[in-house]
Amino acid sequence: NSSNNNDPLIGVIIEGTEEARFVVYKAEDTREIVSYSVRITQICPKEGWLEHNPVEILHAVRECISYGVENLEKLNYGVEDIVAVGISNQRETTIAWDSATGEPLYNAIVWSDSRADSTVDQILAKVPDNSKNALMPLCGLPISPYFSALKMRWLIDSVPAVRRAMREQRCRFGTVDSWLVWNLTGGKKGGLFITDVTNASRTMLMNIESLQWDPILCRYFNIAANLLPEIRSSSEIYGYITEGPLKGIPISAILGNQQSSLIGERCFKEGQAKSTYRKGCFLVYNTGASVMHSTHGLETTVAYKMGKNAPAVYALEGSVAVAGSAIKWLKNNVNILKEVGDAETAAADVPSTGDVYFVPAFSGLYAPYWRKDARGIICGLTQFTTKSHIIRAALEAVCFQTRDILEAMAKDCGHHLTKLQVDGKMTENKLLMQLQADLCGIPVERTAMSVRMEALGVAMAAGQAEGIGVWDIYKEPQTPVPRDVFLPTTTHEERDARYSKWKMAVKRSLGWATT
Ligand code: G3P
Repeated sequence: NSSNNNDPLIGVIIEGTEEARFVVYKAEDTREIVSYSVRITQICPKEGWLEHNPVEILHAVRECISYGVENLEKLNYGVEDIVAVGISNQRETTIAWDSATGEPLYNAIVWSDSRADSTVDQILAKVPDNSKNALMPLCGLPISPYFSALKMRWLIDSVPAVRRAMREQRCRFGTVDSWLVWNLTGGKKGGLFITDVTNASRTMLMNIESLQWDPILCRYFNIAANLLPEIRSSSEIYGYITEGPLKGIPISAILGNQQSSLIGERCFKEGQAKSTYRKGCFLVYNTGASVMHSTHGLETTVAYKMGKNAPAVYALEGSVAVAGSAIKWLKNNVNILKEVGDAETAAADVPSTGDVYFVPAFSGLYAPYWRKDARGIICGLTQFTTKSHIIRAALEAVCFQTRDILEAMAKDCGHHLTKLQVDGKMTENKLLMQLQADLCGIPVERTAMSVRMEALGVAMAAGQAEGIGVWDIYKEPQTPVPRDVFLPTTTHEERDARYSKWKMAVKRSLGWATT
């Protein structure tokens, strides 16, 4: 194997809701050398449910690694030059498996799955004032079916195989990172059972200050801490891959995908934020070393912890469940779009939505409302309304939901963001970017689509880990990530008038079936 320069390389495993991917970078270079992806089957057994097959996830990751390495060698790079591997994953998605057989005990319950609605009521009945915010001082999160503890509780209550494995002390609970690391480091023959602080901070079981499983939280959910992985930093050598073409290479970073894109976007300073637009939309705001508790519906989360002894850096997050998936819904369920990519031209056919508002509350509403009883609505229809108006309203819904988050952040932090740094597949849509700038009144700075922020961020974290040391993440990269900017073209009055109508539409979506 003759290597191309023998530069140290970093491999990155990405496991998201839609696909698995393997990417390779040269240390301190933002450009991907190879990237190979495999789609993940979306299993929807019932309304509001979304599952993945954990074995398929694992096979997809293995396939990506094999083909990724093959392509790397075709380019005359050697796999032996990969000095470290990082993992960035879809967060909250929960897997239970049997440590003796290595088999999953149930399908993975995906983050946006709302089956744990009734589990929420069960927990609310136990907490002070039955308040959804009662556990926020401990874990930073409101009680919502989004978070892993609710999904774990559902698995224990509903799946006999999980209960049996628990009785026989063979049950393991984890997020996707834990499942992958356990399998890649030996599985039932001694695989590492770990997670990182960013993933753990999305479970509702980790204490946001001590960064350990919290006995009070575990008691509320009645989940024993010994079922859960050990919590480690986001960047350290955890162990070594024991299989396939990457055998012997250390895994040296694990990050939830929204946190790794925060790193990729270089939001290292307090007050810097990024938003990623894909199926959902996730705005993460770096709050530095201090834990800031939101009083306006945002989540407190760990942004990263760059080493065993490094301090944790925190963030406020506004998670929006439905962004790009509203466009998919218009394509797949309503059939008014041939391709998701046609949304931009269809929406540009009309100069405005004609006062149509679309609140895509398909999984209830997440931040800042946290209403599981919200349902989707399209309002303001007239005889004049066409499909273009509705498609445009779906794009605007992403922008208005982002404004909801920005307003909450400004109230919590005392100042407004001066620009919005964005990435993710959906940002290809230039009209969406312009609408975002126009409806929020701040410049929108878009990262080039050729750079996958969550992949770059975890490569940086893996490369900087102690014992690897090939990437100084605080140094500006030689090839800066290309960006372009969309400036607002609206007045304050225009923006506020539109926003107040959005708020009226949201009001109608909240608990409409129950009140
Ligand atoms: O919190 C959910 C988030 O991690 C989603 O991941 O892959 O749908 O962008 P993805």
